[in-house]
Amino acid sequence: MINTVLTRFKLNGKEVEVDAKPNEVLLDTLRLRLDVKSVKRGCERGECGSCTILLNGEPVTSCLVLTPQVEGADIVTVEGLESDPKFVELVENFVKEGAIQCGFCTPGFLLTAYAAVTKGKVKTPEDIRKHLEGNLCRCTGYVKIIDAVARTTLKPA
Ligand code: FES
Ligand code: FES
Repeated sequence: MINTVLTRFKLNGKEVEVDAKPNEVLLDTLRLRLDVKSVKRGCERGECGSCTILLNGEPVTSCLVLTPQVEGADIVTVEGLESDPKFVELVENFVKEGAIQCGFCTPGFLLTAYAAVTKGKVKTPEDIRKHLEGNLCRCTGYVKIIDAVARTTLKPA
């Protein structure tokens, strides 16, 4: 018999609890148990960034986090930011700059960029490149994505 671990955490502001397997990754819990399909399954080894979520405000790859480890944590996905003005602005700039094609990588890019922008970590285009280096896109190339983030955060006051 496989034991499970009752794990409680906050998902997009709401308390949830799951009976997770001890070796269950958060990516699977979110997609398969909690139906959060914006969190994408890519490489499953921490290299592509498509499964990025915010864990206590920091972008992390959910394929490398065991669900029992997030007991008591605050997890945010793009669904939790739909009414956040800075996030909405970021999404609009992705659209304006043509930074989305298939969209598979986009939730991960948006969450990584959102965290960097709202923490005031982006002062130059080089900062954007540095913060987004863990997210891969096979469609757009990176210039449009970097331009979209720059349009959100580097515009003149
Ligand atoms: S699926 Fe997690 S980093 Fe690629
Ligand atoms: S838009 Fe298709 S992988 Fe990035």
